[in-house]
Amino acid sequence: MAMTQTDSDKAPVLEIRNLTQRFGGLTAVSDFNVSLRKNDLSGLIGPNGAGKTTIFNLVSGFYQPSEGEILVAGCPTAGLKPHKVTALGVARTFQNIRLWNDMTVLDNIRVAQHYRLGYGFFHSVARSKHYMQRETEIAREAAELLEVFDLQRYADELPGNLPYGTQRKLEIARALSVHPQLLLLDEPAAGLNSSDIQELIRLVRWIHNKFDVCIWMIEHHMDVMMELCTQIKVIDFGQTIAEGTPDKVRNDPAVMTAYLGDDVI
Ligand SMILES: Nc1ncnc2c1ncn2[C@@H]1O[C@H](COP(=O)(O)OP(=O)(O)OP(=O)(O)O)[C@@H](O)[C@H]1O
Ligand SMILES: [Mg+2]
Repeated sequence: MAMTQTDSDKAPVLEIRNLTQRFGGLTAVSDFNVSLRKNDLSGLIGPNGAGKTTIFNLVSGFYQPSEGEILVAGCPTAGLKPHKVTALGVARTFQNIRLWNDMTVLDNIRVAQHYRLGYGFFHSVARSKHYMQRETEIAREAAELLEVFDLQRYADELPGNLPYGTQRKLEIARALSVHPQLLLLDEPAAGLNSSDIQELIRLVRWIHNKFDVCIWMIEHHMDVMMELCTQIKVIDFGQTIAEGTPDKVRNDPAVMTAYLGDDVI
């Protein structure tokens, strides 16, 4: 029997149209466009200050665009606060790790799961049957996530006590706990040693195979991007200067100039 696609399969997971972001006189992102589909593993690169994190901040609702449109699974995100964008299925990690440092590793995951389920004050006070069932489900899922990320032994630790690479891993596990359709990774290899980087590459590939999730990743480690991404966009001073397969962008003269200056050509 022929497979039929549902409408949500057909709509891009993320569509960005003519996105521009100004901060006072600075145009950090200029007329940026992208369309990402389910199961894409795509990259965003560019020199420091190019506007990469700003794009992630716009997609996740931390900033409202000066111009342009962002759609998640066909739904415009204009005016939505970050938690509403999370509820649409967007999860992210941060260039500088942001974990809840006064909560245990396990609670970092459990609290994130509540964002997905959207429990309010009433539910937790009333402790309805439905709430209790969901709590059991959350506990089971959190335990599973800790196990697959090999984090069980840290469950009761505070994140600050974990090795740096493990904190990065926990941040990714926490992002996944909200069942995202789109996972944004902002420099996940930053500060990692080479064996942690190899583990990260395996982990991202594994997540991509195992979960139905579109991954969009910013990274300065070119080897990581070359290994993982099928498509890469390159921006410089907010402008898109190249896009295509890793091989294509690596050999693009405009990209070399952006990274290394005019002298190299
Ligand atoms: N909230 C803000 N207010 C003012 N300027 C900002 C703000 N956020 C970012 N910028 C500026 O926008 C430009 C792009 O910054 P952004 O953090 O997006 O760069 P990036 O590509 O992520 O760089 P890096 O590789 O160093 O992380 C920079 O000039 C930065 O100083
Ligand atoms: Mg950045």
